Amino acid sequence: MTEAQKKALIAAAIQASEHAYAPYSHYHVGAALLTSTGKILLGCNVENASYGATICAERTAVVKAVSEGERDFEAIAVATQNGGSPCGICRQFMFEFSPEMQVIIADFSGKIHLDMPLKELLPGGFGPHSLP
Ligand code: THU
Repeated sequence: MTEAQKKALIAAAIQASEHAYAPYSHYHVGAALLTSTGKILLGCNVENASYGATICAERTAVVKAVSEGERDFEAIAVATQNGGSPCGICRQFMFEFSPEMQVIIADFSGKIHLDMPLKELLPGGFGPHSLP
């Protein structure tokens, strides 16, 4: 992945955060998921008055992709105000499809806080091959 591609993916994630529905936490999250076929799917967090029903930005993007036939991911950029890193549920959710994918975490200024393969963010992760 080139630096230009990385910048573009981060810009897309920042843009995606504008659609965040976060009336409870006020913490807006945007995600841009790059598939191995070159498509970019956007996602944002979608909160709910029943807090536990909230869906994170990363899972929104992955569910959009899978529901459109895309299961192989190259990278995801996630943008927040402070460069917060993906929650455990999202790490697990992405691990199912592409443990090798690159995870790029940025803040709204575009500064990168973290840039590493998912398998390093979730060492020893449980995946499809863990099932007998
Ligand atoms: N959130 C995400 O969208 N992604 C993460 O990986 C961490 C948390 C959202 C969920 C909730 O809407 C808000 O951030 C505060 O937890």
